[in-house]
Amino acid sequence: MPRYILALDQGTTSSRSILFDHDARIVSVAQQEFRQILPATGQVEHDPEDLWGSQISTAEGALGKVALEEVAAIGITNQRETTIVWDKRTGKPIHNAIVWQSRVSSSICDRLRSEGVEDTIRQKTGLVVDAYFSASKIIHLLETVSGARQAAEDGHLLFGTVDCYLVWRLTGGKRHVTDVSNASRTMMLNIETLEWDDELLAAYKIPRSMLPEIVDCSGQFAETDPAVLGRVIPISGMAGDQQAASFGQTCFDQGMVKNTYGTGAFALMNIGDKPVLSKNNLLTTVGWRIGDQVSYALEGSIFVAGAVVQWLRDGLGIIEASSEVEPLAETVADNGGVYFVPAFVGLGAPYWDPHARGTIIGLSRGTTGGHIARAALESMAFQTRDMIEAMQRDAGVPLQVLQVDGGASVNNALMQFQTDLLGTRVRRPKISETTALGAAFLAGLAVGFWESQEELRGLWRLDREFEPTADPHKMDQMYTRWQEAVTRSRAWER
Ligand code: G3P
Repeated sequence: MPRYILALDQGTTSSRSILFDHDARIVSVAQQEFRQILPATGQVEHDPEDLWGSQISTAEGALGKVALEEVAAIGITNQRETTIVWDKRTGKPIHNAIVWQSRVSSSICDRLRSEGVEDTIRQKTGLVVDAYFSASKIIHLLETVSGARQAAEDGHLLFGTVDCYLVWRLTGGKRHVTDVSNASRTMMLNIETLEWDDELLAAYKIPRSMLPEIVDCSGQFAETDPAVLGRVIPISGMAGDQQAASFGQTCFDQGMVKNTYGTGAFALMNIGDKPVLSKNNLLTTVGWRIGDQVSYALEGSIFVAGAVVQWLRDGLGIIEASSEVEPLAETVADNGGVYFVPAFVGLGAPYWDPHARGTIIGLSRGTTGGHIARAALESMAFQTRDMIEAMQRDAGVPLQVLQVDGGASVNNALMQFQTDLLGTRVRRPKISETTALGAAFLAGLAVGFWESQEELRGLWRLDREFEPTADPHKMDQMYTRWQEAVTRSRAWER
């Protein structure tokens, strides 16, 4: 009997591979950061070879001395929307991957809006027209890479988000597939039919031949080429990282909400089996599809959360390692009136302002690095409140509990601030790697490693529950100051 599931988690700043056992416990982890390529203001790229190389070497690291026949299946989860186009004849990408955070295709989105397709896009895809999603990134590549348009029209080019690219590589180029949750982030998927939408493809001038086949999030849709990891292993789980985190948090019931603090932060609310559109600038997205069970979610997307700590380290240089941010923030009793809106690549939900830029306001002679660090950490909680308020307005009911995960969720002071700011209970599971766990769950369900979603629910274990204790009036005052700071960060870049 195989004893493990291997989850591959290809994130924005690092690749991770985690081996889980039947009790959903972590047996081993390997992680590798890779290069962030920043060609110009607001642009972010990755070298697809770095994504693949770091992912495969962490997979080998996590497998360690485990016999490969002990691995029942592989689940894949990934940074979403990031766009890779490659030539199927050579397997070579025609350009670096355009990362989800990149604003390089903002002007293409302006053009789409001026062509009057905005409402159609919103209705059909559940998304807002924004450079965040893959479609405008593909258009950008077809318009700027020499010879790309012709090669695409001749059927030589393939598009994939990172899940799709990894499967292509893992299968030795045999399978060109994406799962429906990743597909729902491309601005090309019709969220009613769950098929690529021909009307939108025509508006974008993207040839259908570039697009992958769409598969379920859990199912036996591919297997590894033996030359890759040394053995044929089923690849049977696949979901975008935020949807996977939601699955890993076992948010199986309508109304359940999770928030993941990663490079960005993403709150997803399970809205059941109908794709209802948001009236408050949130996205409607596919949570997962397993056979005939489809689960949709409302999503709030924040572009910069944990990445603000990276900036304190690499941009501002006030810390040497990310772990120094907490002690630095604790050198001060409060934020000293400093508010930090990390709109480095514009603002996502609920503002959708590509022209906003980072703002630190409220500086005085007494301001220290501690205040800046504290304001940076608090920005994750403030942005989360922005999304949760929008979500509550859509749902028409207050949120009862928020399930949290991801890197920054292990910071107790931040989670206490989050619960105080929301006035809502915050629950953190024992495994904060819910993204990888979700991918493992999806893979394991497909091969009978786990029997049912009910069984998975039983594997969710509470680490800590936070209760609001601060004065709500004071929290509201701080939130009002935050909103003023956001207003000042907006429409800056022209
Ligand atoms: O939509 C982007 C998201 O999938 C990136 O996630 O964890 O790399 O911040 P993360």
